[in-house]
Amino acid sequence: MLIEADRILQGTTGHTTAKISSQHALIYDKLKNQMGEEKARQYAEANQKAIQFIADTAAEKGIDCDLAWRPAYVYTQSDKYVKQIENEEKAASSLGIKASIVHELPLPFKIKAALRFDGQAQFHPLKYLKALVKVLPDSVRIFEQTRAINIEEGNTAAVITNQGKKVVASKVVIASHYPFFDGGGMYFSRVYPSRSYAVGVTITEKFPEGMFISAESPTRSLRSTPLGDEELVLVVGEDHKTGQSKNTATHYDNLLKFAHDIYEVREVKYRWSTQDYITLDGVPYVGNLTSQHPDLYVATGFGKWGITNGTASAMVIKDLIIHGDSPWKEVYTPSRFNVASAVNFVVSNADVAKHLIAGKFKPTEDLEDLPPGEARIIYADGDKVGAFRDEKGELHLVDITCTHMGCELAWNEAERSWDCPCHGSRFTYEGDIIEGPALSHLHHPGEGPNQVEPNVIQ
Ligand SMILES: Cc1cc2nc3c(=O)[nH]c(=O)nc-3n(C[C@H](O)[C@H](O)[C@H](O)COP(=O)(O)OP(=O)(O)OC[C@H]3O[C@@H](n4cnc5c(N)ncnc54)[C@H](O)[C@@H]3O)c2cc1C
Ligand code: FES
Repeated sequence: MLIEADRILQGTTGHTTAKISSQHALIYDKLKNQMGEEKARQYAEANQKAIQFIADTAAEKGIDCDLAWRPAYVYTQSDKYVKQIENEEKAASSLGIKASIVHELPLPFKIKAALRFDGQAQFHPLKYLKALVKVLPDSVRIFEQTRAINIEEGNTAAVITNQGKKVVASKVVIASHYPFFDGGGMYFSRVYPSRSYAVGVTITEKFPEGMFISAESPTRSLRSTPLGDEELVLVVGEDHKTGQSKNTATHYDNLLKFAHDIYEVREVKYRWSTQDYITLDGVPYVGNLTSQHPDLYVATGFGKWGITNGTASAMVIKDLIIHGDSPWKEVYTPSRFNVASAVNFVVSNADVAKHLIAGKFKPTEDLEDLPPGEARIIYADGDKVGAFRDEKGELHLVDITCTHMGCELAWNEAERSWDCPCHGSRFTYEGDIIEGPALSHLHHPGEGPNQVEPNVIQ
């Protein structure tokens, strides 16, 4: 049984760049150094197998999902990254990946070096997943608009839904992007949310057959996809921690400027932004929720590479449930501990503490001059209130204390949402949940303060 809080396929997977690639920017040299040869090999193999699984499944089921084999490149325009790219080539090749260094790209700018992976692919994730849903056996039941809010543990687990129903199951897989149940795994302190932006443009020339990403920041990621008779070029990048950008609208401007700098842009067809969770050491947490939970499994923290990592997670968890073991369980196990995790734990939680303690805007009581389409933070009866005036002039006021664990929300002008800098919950300007771990909506002034959810730290 699949329980979905909203509609299936509308989350990050519906807004991804959808490169099906084991080239996760620069990762293998780091993995070898931090986790050792064996675990780096597991990561490479899992992601390579995931590419093959998606391609085989699409072929076997006859799924028309624009799947195309393309080389993947991570490039640099800076001398600083050349050595890292060379080290990455050595590390990836030693793990069995077909990797090579090139000094030119079929893109209209010069580079210092790039790492090419062959045998990579791209697709339309929703065309693929919608077709998969159709071929599920009748015994698989999907319940949309059913939010899981807790798990009661016992001989068999009971997942509690927001309608107060209990779903009893011998095995539960928590695949809700951010885990809705913590179980003492301290996920709230071990993953952080990061947003990225995308624009879809048509250009006057043909885009080359490849997928590209920069090694340096700000990230620039490029690929093309068919759009009817046309070709859409996806330009993606501008990462930042959720709720921690001063002006989110500028990120679209920066991507568009980049697109205009390198191509003659015919039309800007689409733009969107979305977020993913990043773990402390950059490897997803996949496997038993904690060592104390033999029947609860989690898959989270895909670090913006969840197309292959998500597919690999399904293979790992399937193997753990059916066979009690997986060849890749060690690299992904959520119970792992290493030095990189420990250092990042301190940095990441200092950041959360900062947002728990203090807001970053100067409050003002004056809303008369708040123009339509803009938001401001004010004090009302001692609470911090977020005010947004819509185009009709109507004012929308919400308590901006996050209902998850109490951090102060920040206004996201590009998406017109209140975003949490701590664990990535997002709310509409009317206070409804968009995504993230929060289980209840924001209150309006006069309704009393927001109830902060206690369940995440159970
Ligand atoms: C801009 C961007 C570009 C990316 N590009 C790539 C790429 O090229 N290649 C790649 O491999 N990866 C890429 N990624 C990463 C990849 O898209 C994600 O890792 C992946 O889509 C995450 O999948 P998910 O199933 O964990 O989350 P989602 O797709 O968000 O699905 C989670 C689902 O759980 C539901 N849910 C949440 N809470 C509950 C609850 N309490 N109860 C019930 N249901 C709940 C949500 O409604 C949602 O439908 C990119 C990510 C970003 C942000
Ligand atoms: S999402 Fe955790 S405090 Fe807001």
